[in-house]
Amino acid sequence: MDPQIHTHESTPASRPLASMTAETLLTRDFDSRPALVYERLRGKYGAVAPVDLLGVPVWLVLGYAEVLEVLRNDRGIWSKNPDDWPAFGKGEVPADWPLRPTYASRGVSYSEGREHAEFREMWSAALRPFQDRSQPQARLLEEEVRRYADELLSLLAESGQSGWADLSAQYVRPLMLMVCNRLIGFGVGTEEALMDMWRVTDAGPDAPEATARLAAMLTEVIVAKRQQPGDDLTSAMLAARADLPVEQLAAEIGMLLGVVGDLTGSLICNTIVEVIVGNTAARASLAGGMVRETVNRAAMANPANNNLTLRFATADTVLGGTVIMAGDPVMLSVAAAHADPRFAQALDPSSVHSSRAHLAWGAGPHQCPGDELATTLVTIAVERLFERMAGLELALPADQLPWRASPIMRGLRALPVRFRLREFPPQAPVPATGDEPRAEAEGPAAGTVSRSTLSRLVRALLRQRS
Ligand code: HEM
Repeated sequence: MDPQIHTHESTPASRPLASMTAETLLTRDFDSRPALVYERLRGKYGAVAPVDLLGVPVWLVLGYAEVLEVLRNDRGIWSKNPDDWPAFGKGEVPADWPLRPTYASRGVSYSEGREHAEFREMWSAALRPFQDRSQPQARLLEEEVRRYADELLSLLAESGQSGWADLSAQYVRPLMLMVCNRLIGFGVGTEEALMDMWRVTDAGPDAPEATARLAAMLTEVIVAKRQQPGDDLTSAMLAARADLPVEQLAAEIGMLLGVVGDLTGSLICNTIVEVIVGNTAARASLAGGMVRETVNRAAMANPANNNLTLRFATADTVLGGTVIMAGDPVMLSVAAAHADPRFAQALDPSSVHSSRAHLAWGAGPHQCPGDELATTLVTIAVERLFERMAGLELALPADQLPWRASPIMRGLRALPVRFRLREFPPQAPVPATGDEPRAEAEGPAAGTVSRSTLSRLVRALLRQRS
């Protein structure tokens, strides 16, 4: 830890965050046009701006170099552990603060030091077989996800070769819930688990009860997998950390709903939108079969994890010319960092391969350990969709798309499209990248879900939408 204030000649005077008249971050403008909000804040304050985050004052970091500096945390002064947030400990954060539940369990995301390293080892070890594409489990998972995707697209076709659909409710959300179901290893009771996962990720009025039921189901699964391990992430986590109490393991596995159900699902929708309306380079790479490249472009242009959960300064410091005092919370804006002219103007728009120096997966000690899996899932979902479509367009003007109101996620509530399916759909699934040899499916699929279950799930999701 460095207890010194980092000084340079023009060190600004320090002002307590709470004394600054912070602007409300979450406005209607932020929901519909966040880029304008970031640019206004950057114009007014520079790389670091005081904002009001749902009633709590925080520093929003907008500069690419500053976001990267905090993420790398070379001086060890930034902590994600809420114990380093005095206002939280002193009860100054309202009991009904909407982001409070994220701190219910410490886990990998909100721990530091040795505790964090142990959680990360578990995640890395457990994820490896599912995201290292040279491993049979990873290839099997890919085949299964392709099959789920094709089944869902076939359900679309049941109401006609062309028509209107909400791709979020009818394709992306159920697909990602199927992946959660597969990774968690829910066997019996899959349909109830899928519906409760949907209710939890939808955060509607029935979410609390669904969360409780899901927690009970997760506990049951963990107990069962301890007796009889399966080919799933739960069993792989148990193998990596046999010592972890069931509730803690359940909380870690529960993260899948957020990172797969919400974040990965959002990146799929954002990639589809990017291809349809946004970015000619994204469309060109898709047309050239470079689907992973398309996903990279979408992750940079419209990152699903647009702002990261809070970090706390453990010592007074200066960031981008602003004095941050020990205990102050900062929120890193990945989306604003990508739009920072110091980063954006250095990119070569004509390059076939887009930059990998973006921060959509974070960086440093908390960098996303599941980025390969996420990229593969998005790649398969996007590829199967466009393989099957002869025509696809938004059913709403792009600036009227219904974005979810969230400070930490850029995702759509619905993705209404008009589609026209190909008359003769491709018979065999193609590889996820378009540029690697096809993996052979090995063995029977675990966690298979019948078409009728899928169909019921989609109908239920649509009913909840209407
Ligand atoms: C498009 C989908 C995803 C995006 C955009 C994303 C992005 C991120 C980012 C930016 C972080 C760093 C957060 C921070 O530094 O505050 C992170 C952390 C994490 N991600 Fe992902 N992620 C995605 C999917 C996944 C998947 C599929 C998994 C695993 C199945 C996963 C597991 C994790 C875990 C466990 C952490 C916490 C790591 C730590 O704190 O050490 N993510 N993710």
